[in-house]
Amino acid sequence: MVAVLFVCLGNICRSPAGEAILRHMTEKHPRHKDIIVKSCGTGDWHLGHSPDERMREAALQRGVILDNKAKLFELEFFKHFDYILAADFEVLAHLLRIAPSAEDQQKVHLMTKFSSKYQGKEVPDPYYMGGPAFDLVLDILEDSCEGLLIDIEKNS
Ligand code: 4NP
Repeated sequence: MVAVLFVCLGNICRSPAGEAILRHMTEKHPRHKDIIVKSCGTGDWHLGHSPDERMREAALQRGVILDNKAKLFELEFFKHFDYILAADFEVLAHLLRIAPSAEDQQKVHLMTKFSSKYQGKEVPDPYYMGGPAFDLVLDILEDSCEGLLIDIEKNS
């Protein structure tokens, strides 16, 4: 059993998209059926809200359905997740700062860590941007999730 947590700021754009894309991929392959996927945010502006409509619409074009409600990151998530994936450098720094132990810090990575094309880059915040920004988020997350699944397979 492997548990993956996607973390962004608001939990209404990037991390719900990451959660939905990875789940979509795992559901297509029986060998990945034991992977648990969740998302949350470090900011409380949108708690309880559905994902941003622009993000939902862009994902739906690719057959991916976003259906979470925004939640805040909790310290105890360090105990429950193996991969804690930050959308950008701000979220990454925050998670590394609050991680209770060095072992917990090692679970924290950028979302693009395992991407073949976007490794080391941020998933740009699309909230104040236009339509193409949401498609770019999905392109980055699809490639990142493919790489992540390869890493999970290597380590299991
Ligand atoms: P997300 O995007 O972190 O990808 O969910 C954002 C959504 C809302 C805000 C910032 C980023 N906001 O400031 O309300």
